[in-house]
Amino acid sequence: MKSNLSVFFILFPFILFGQNTDHDLLPASFFKANRENFIAQMPAHSAAVFFANPIRNRSNDVDYQYSQNPNFYYLTGLRDPDAVLLLFKDAKIFDESKGVKELLFIRPKNKSEEIWTGIRPSCREAQAITGIQAVYTTTEFKEFGLDFSKMEEVWAEYPSQPNSEAFSKIALSNLVEDFNKKLPANLTVEESKPYKVLASMREVKQVVEIALVKRAIDISVEGFIELMKAINPGFKEYQAQAIVEYFVKNNGGEYQGYPSICGGAGNSCILHYQENRDSLKSGDLLLADMGGEYHGYTADITRTFPVNGKFTAEQKLIYNLVLKAQEAGIAVCLPGQSFHATHQATFAIVSKGLVELGIITSEKDADKYFMHGTSHYLGLDVHDAGTYGALKAGTIITVEPGIYIPEGSPCDKKWWNIGVRIEDDILINENGPATIMSGRLPREIGEIENLMLLQSYFK
Ligand code: GLY
Ligand code: MN
Ligand code: MN
Repeated sequence: MKSNLSVFFILFPFILFGQNTDHDLLPASFFKANRENFIAQMPAHSAAVFFANPIRNRSNDVDYQYSQNPNFYYLTGLRDPDAVLLLFKDAKIFDESKGVKELLFIRPKNKSEEIWTGIRPSCREAQAITGIQAVYTTTEFKEFGLDFSKMEEVWAEYPSQPNSEAFSKIALSNLVEDFNKKLPANLTVEESKPYKVLASMREVKQVVEIALVKRAIDISVEGFIELMKAINPGFKEYQAQAIVEYFVKNNGGEYQGYPSICGGAGNSCILHYQENRDSLKSGDLLLADMGGEYHGYTADITRTFPVNGKFTAEQKLIYNLVLKAQEAGIAVCLPGQSFHATHQATFAIVSKGLVELGIITSEKDADKYFMHGTSHYLGLDVHDAGTYGALKAGTIITVEPGIYIPEGSPCDKKWWNIGVRIEDDILINENGPATIMSGRLPREIGEIENLMLLQSYFK
């Protein structure tokens, strides 16, 4: 039995954060600072509007799992649909008493709908999550006295698919329509500028964001390590997928950041293979590209390894070529380098190596077997927002060269059905080499083969 005092300390976080039991969600101060930074980059006499992502219908009365618009999340912390955020460069007077720069409309509470789809934040709870003081319900939006007549610019990020929600009386399309009706006829809405400003903000991660990406990586790495230990000939691709996804979920990751790619043999040559239904045989390589998502931030990791625990001579040659290319790519992950430097570095090595192995006769043909880019930003999105300018400290990118030789390729058939990608998540540092955030997961052939000798409790 605990004392009253210890009960208070146990309940204190719940009192502070309401129904939310996650202790490491981003605080309102994070979202508030993002809004202030965004507003500072808006022109004089301007307003910006953002809409939450719509709920997307799967079939009949079943919807897809909800995923918030990352820009909306970055500015509010809200994970609810049917919401509108308005930001004003200058304090906007919309009633007699208040001048506000931030205005939020959320779905009204609704007991009968909440029985089906979960508790919605009240306006007071939304204030606590977002740090926005002026929070109203969307039922008030249509008639809300917003005067855009003196605005010189209005920025808008419209939802990509404003389809309606099965339960909601306030469909997103209505909110968009109501917003557009408030605008003077002669005002052109600027749709590209808010994205540009947010891309440059989201490109450079804050310390708390790096911590969440690291958590997403760590729980994914744990799954990859168990998968390498567990896998055996006879496994199905989906069973390999299930092991990594189990560790993500079991450690509090809400989703995968993208559909898991788990392909053996010829399927390893399909870049975004998602069926994951085939059996894995002795002698096959498995290409596993998976990343857990933790509080909105995602990992993106690929390892390629032999189903029976031992690389063949040909698999080793291709694997080591990709590894050498990846190391060259990681070596140029330095602030000031062009975003394309990683691809230039990896592609040069892969092209030369493929010629040396006799797989191609001219380096010009390397893109037949290495047909994708090497890097993308990583964060709230797996292919995260960014400027694609010179690399900056605090940016997280992937480095993921690959070689894919499907059956029937114009080379010796001993190379057929070898698909190798090695992908790590790299934090650019201010000084010195980058940090390989996923570096705990073995990449060297010897390390992988040794790890695969260990027993797993999934066997
Ligand atoms: N997982 C998708 C990618 O690597 O870009
Ligand atoms: Mn990637
Ligand atoms: Mn990937």
